[in-house]
Amino acid sequence: MHIPRLWIRAAVLLGIALLLYVFVFSSGYQKYQIEGIIKRSEPEKVWEYVADFNKMRLLNPTIINFKILADHGHAHDWRYTVEYTERLSHWPYWKNTATGRYVVTKTLPGVSPVAYVINSTHQTCFFGGFYCLQSLSEFTFRKSNDDTHAQENIKFQCPPLLVSMCRRELEFQRQAVMHNLTIIFGKQRV
Ligand SMILES: *[C@@H]1O[C@H](CO)[C@@H](O)[C@H](O)[C@H]1NC(C)=O
Ligand SMILES: *[C@@H]1O[C@H](CO)[C@@H](O)[C@H](O)[C@H]1NC(C)=O
Repeated sequence: MHIPRLWIRAAVLLGIALLLYVFVFSSGYQKYQIEGIIKRSEPEKVWEYVADFNKMRLLNPTIINFKILADHGHAHDWRYTVEYTERLSHWPYWKNTATGRYVVTKTLPGVSPVAYVINSTHQTCFFGGFYCLQSLSEFTFRKSNDDTHAQENIKFQCPPLLVSMCRRELEFQRQAVMHNLTIIFGKQRV
């Protein structure tokens, strides 16, 4: 049997496209969760600290620099957009530029339980914006006796082939943030 060369080429191209789709572009969302207790601290103070991107550099060792693109709102609902450059902890020669959109909220007066929340979505694009990955974070601070209970829930997109790398990177970064938060607030005994 003779198969026309054109068909073979078409089949090979289709195969490559399918492989690319499965291993690179079909990035489903993965979940990650971390909690921590920040001793002898007010949830509001910790929330304010984390919400301030200037402080992010003291918390997150992977952030190299940033630029606030937009900023508006009030004490109960404050929103800003930031563009930042980060390096990967496990692959320091690679630098990413990402855009983060932050929504910083606290419960209105009279509403209980009182919660302080920082929601953010992050987008990192590659190949001139042709290929983008998203992540969503919900960072909540609540009072727990004299301490602050902090919990961060993350959903992140990652190409299937790189899931373990993405997870390692995220774990390093988020554990560092939590760890540095406990250290910074542990020092300022009021
Ligand atoms: C934060 O924590 C990480 C790891 O726990 C550490 O390497 C880093 O130096 C700390 N400080 C800053 C400013 O990132
Ligand atoms: C924050 O994100 C969570 C989960 O995505 C959502 O349920 C919640 O309503 C968000 N809160 C605000 C204030 O946007």
